[in-house]
Amino acid sequence: MSFLTGKKILVTGVANKRSIAWGCAKAIADQGAEVIYTYQNDRMKKGLVKLVGEDAPMVELDVSKDENIEKAMAAIKELVGNIDGFLHSIAFANKEELSGDVSEITRDGFSLAQDVSAYSLLALTKYALPILNPGSSIVTMTYMGSERSIPNYNMMGIAKAALEAEVRYLATELSPKGVRVNAISAGALKTLAVTGVKDYQSLLNLSEERTPDKVSVTIDEVGQTCAFLLSPLASGIVGDIIYVDKGVHLS
Ligand SMILES: NC(=O)c1ccc[n+]([C@@H]2O[C@H](COP(=O)([O-])OP(=O)(O)OC[C@H]3O[C@@H](n4cnc5c(N)ncnc54)[C@H](O)[C@@H]3O)[C@@H](O)[C@H]2O)c1
Repeated sequence: MSFLTGKKILVTGVANKRSIAWGCAKAIADQGAEVIYTYQNDRMKKGLVKLVGEDAPMVELDVSKDENIEKAMAAIKELVGNIDGFLHSIAFANKEELSGDVSEITRDGFSLAQDVSAYSLLALTKYALPILNPGSSIVTMTYMGSERSIPNYNMMGIAKAALEAEVRYLATELSPKGVRVNAISAGALKTLAVTGVKDYQSLLNLSEERTPDKVSVTIDEVGQTCAFLLSPLASGIVGDIIYVDKGVHLS
């Protein structure tokens, strides 16, 4: 018996085999859950279908509009009924907001990044609540650029700080309703999203150098923690930010 047997978990953010969400989806499935996927648009669907095939349960979800989220949740309900939790693994900022000076961040660039990377967790939660079974768990992905000034991470660090605050407030609201909310603060990994950050290779190198054993974390390691947090084994963990970065945050 695996620790997610019989559970149905919604996984957002699988763009390709490097996506952190893909590491999570594999670990969640390995622990016996049924995984329901979302894809941002038709272009992203192609990458997802390559990994999971056409027959895997999946729905379109671009989080930038409430009606998309509402529609996606209705489609999920129709497809599999109620679910036992979800992974929010979504972020976006324009390239201009991921380099240079933060004092140059534009109002529009700020709004876009906050909207897609942070507000989306609140909106997803709102529309998912009616189909979440008691005992459900919500996990999101953050990075330590939320609390430290990491070169060029800029706008995304600001959005991640908001995201982490949301985790604490949502956890307080939803814990009495039997729903836990937590975040994983993952180490730097070479994914599509990270390539938006100027000089991202330095960010990856820095992360590897600061890992005590000099071996960076993998999406599979992040995924295993994600599966654990989504499971009843983590029932005592509420509103936390769990580092899964092989110790980079220690120095
Ligand atoms: N790669 C890292 O080093 C790292 C470290 C810590 C945290 N994270 C976070 O992990 C999460 C996943 O990123 P990743 O690194 O796996 O990259 P990724 O590019 O594989 O995943 C990002 C996902 O966000 C989705 N997305 C962007 N805008 C969207 C929208 N409007 N609607 C729906 N989906 C949208 C993309 O389709 C993609 O699937 C992000 O929140 C990222 O900030 C990444």
